[in-house]
Amino acid sequence: MQNLKKIDHLGIAVADLNSAVQKYEILLQRKVEHFEEVEDQKVKTAFFELGESHIELLQATSPESPIAKYLEKNPKGGIHHICIEVEDIVKALSDYEKAGIRLIDQKPRMGANQKLVAFVHPADTNGVLLELSQNLKP
Ligand code: CO
Repeated sequence: MQNLKKIDHLGIAVADLNSAVQKYEILLQRKVEHFEEVEDQKVKTAFFELGESHIELLQATSPESPIAKYLEKNPKGGIHHICIEVEDIVKALSDYEKAGIRLIDQKPRMGANQKLVAFVHPADTNGVLLELSQNLKP
C-alpha cells in the first residue's frame, strides 16, 4: 500500500488572518471551515476545504514564528509549504532518512486538526518546504 496518499493542503503565509479569510472566502467561493491556533509553531491558522484538499492560511503569533520570518523575505505572503497526507508518518520519515533526505523534524509532532506532522528540509526538496501529516482521527 502506498504510504503517501494525496496533497492534503497548501499552506499560505498571510500578514492578517481575518482579512485573508475574507479574501479567500471570495476566491474559493465558500465559507472558512475552521480556525485553530498551533502554539508549538507560533501560528494561527484558518482552513478551507477544497475537494479532497485544503487551503491553510497562516498568520504568525510571535516574531519568532517561521511565518514571521517568511514574511520578512516575502512581504506580500505566498505559498509557505505543501503538505502530503501519509498513512504512517514514522515510516515515511525513516524511509526519507534512509534515502539521505534531510529532515527538519526527526520525529512527528502535534499539528492542527489532530494530526501528527513533520517537516522535510527544503535543501532536499528543491526549495519547497514539505510537510507530512498523518490523521489521528478515526
Ligand atoms: Co500545514
